[in-house]
Amino acid sequence: MNQFIQKYYDTSIPSLGSGGAVKVLSPATVANVVCGFDILGFALNEPNDEFTISLSDEKGVTIINDDAYDLPLDPEKNVSGAALLALLEETPDIKGFHFISKKKIKPGSGIGSSAASAAGAVVAANHLLNNRFTKEDLVRFAMFGEKVASGVKHADNIAPAIYGGVTLIRSIFPLDIVSIDAPELHVTVVHPQIEVRTSDARQILKQRVLLKDAIKQWGNIAGLVAGFIKHDYDLIGRSLEDVIIEPVRSILIPGFDDVKKKCKEAGALGGGISGSGPSIFMLSRNEVIARAVESVMKEVYENIGLAYHTHVTTINQQGVKLL
Ligand code: HSE
Repeated sequence: MNQFIQKYYDTSIPSLGSGGAVKVLSPATVANVVCGFDILGFALNEPNDEFTISLSDEKGVTIINDDAYDLPLDPEKNVSGAALLALLEETPDIKGFHFISKKKIKPGSGIGSSAASAAGAVVAANHLLNNRFTKEDLVRFAMFGEKVASGVKHADNIAPAIYGGVTLIRSIFPLDIVSIDAPELHVTVVHPQIEVRTSDARQILKQRVLLKDAIKQWGNIAGLVAGFIKHDYDLIGRSLEDVIIEPVRSILIPGFDDVKKKCKEAGALGGGISGSGPSIFMLSRNEVIARAVESVMKEVYENIGLAYHTHVTTINQQGVKLL
């Protein structure tokens, strides 16, 4: 760590609340959960970003990158910065923040990198301000960050990052977020090392849906939510089907069909594209199956000759965590 960054970690700026700096871990998330485009998501226990925030006497948001990604330092162009600026609009008693970003979740990976940045920033700021805002307020601020990242305000990564667990975004205008109970699930993620920009992956989608496809899709969404609540693994597995988005987007991901078929043969309940990709996720009943699924994923990408990362983890019930 260079001395400039160390200085900010060490800074103890008197705040309204606890004083000094607040550090949080902000989780990766899986949006859509196959059939619930823009309305379903869950948080992961791994990987996480780490953010440190403190109050500043300077107006606005000063950003310091302490990671490998060289993200914009202009707060209006930075996902965390835009979310914090939205929060500052509603805190006239606060001048600004120092914000240190230590990201581990690679941008463009499909596991909610931008949401981790936006959600982590506003949850950390809220701790600094003695939790004056509700979780719903924080989702509202964080969506300004998503807009910077993808041009659209969607909450299916942000809401689970802030609330933890599985969340349903019944509506974003006005916000209506519902936490969904779910059984213990193990999640395997493979991230083939290509970048898919969410904005591009949204642009290729068809704007019209056939009624027969819509009927299938809402049957699956209702089945998936019921499967979670009833802890019915078979129903969850049957409902992990997407007839609208996946057929269009999967062409952007080498090996997708092979991964899906072989992971199910290895015992996964099912899965699909994580968010807008290129990561693919699979749900399993237990860790032994989740590890077998990981081996299958590795095998597919070894054969293709494409670099990849994998994660075997569980659903994070807490969301952004204070360190
Ligand atoms: N629902 C969004 C999409 C999630 O699929 O475009 C992006 O992470």
